[in-house]
Amino acid sequence: MNEIPTVFPQPKIASALNSDFEQRVALSTETLPWSVSPLPGVERRMLDRLGGEVARATSVVRYAPGSHFDRHIHGGGEEILVLDGVFSDERGEYAAGSYLRNPPGSGHAPFSVEGCLLLVKLWQFGPGDTEKVRIDTQQTPWRQGLVPGLSVMPLHEHNGISTALVRWAPNTRFNTHSHSGGEEIFVLSGVFHDEHGHYPRHSWLRSPRWSQHSPFTEGEGALIYVKVGHLGAPMLTP
Ligand SMILES: [Fe+2]
Ligand SMILES: [Fe+2]
Repeated sequence: MNEIPTVFPQPKIASALNSDFEQRVALSTETLPWSVSPLPGVERRMLDRLGGEVARATSVVRYAPGSHFDRHIHGGGEEILVLDGVFSDERGEYAAGSYLRNPPGSGHAPFSVEGCLLLVKLWQFGPGDTEKVRIDTQQTPWRQGLVPGLSVMPLHEHNGISTALVRWAPNTRFNTHSHSGGEEIFVLSGVFHDEHGHYPRHSWLRSPRWSQHSPFTEGEGALIYVKVGHLGAPMLTP
């Protein structure tokens, strides 16, 4: 029997998706369709994207068990939070809760033996941000936040752009505040609320510069990934 050559479908890449950073976006990522990537077994849900296959992009990426991605160089840097499973490259294994920053110019050949789910941000490094980061958030102590019930785990800071995990006890209320450089939130567990809506697990919320809100939790509490200061900040560009 003749072997049928395998032709992988060529992904259609949106050149612009939620790319106006002056607009608020709030969505449940679990309802978004999966798009194929150039490698079989690696799929992504695109949250924001500016550019073609090389893009400033924020995505949820899923590696099927036993899948791999081609060796690549991160021209504009890569930030990863492992949401589930175990992500690997030739230098290590990164279990759920791992926070990785692969600075511009770094490279690797990633894979996943058991499969994994990742939050990935590409081309979102400011000029001069060259720090390589590996943090196991499951083993890192929390700091007391600004109000009772709030705990913070700083992950990275550079030139006014900071990234952290924030843990909200049930029924915690934070002051009304504005984000001079914008704010991006990914809900890792529980339900996060503000006066504009409520955001269950794996919701993604991007609030533009100078936006304002009064966030709180109810009976479930919440664990969220938060980045501030990056919307409108100078970035390396593809
Ligand atoms: Fe990478
Ligand atoms: Fe906020």
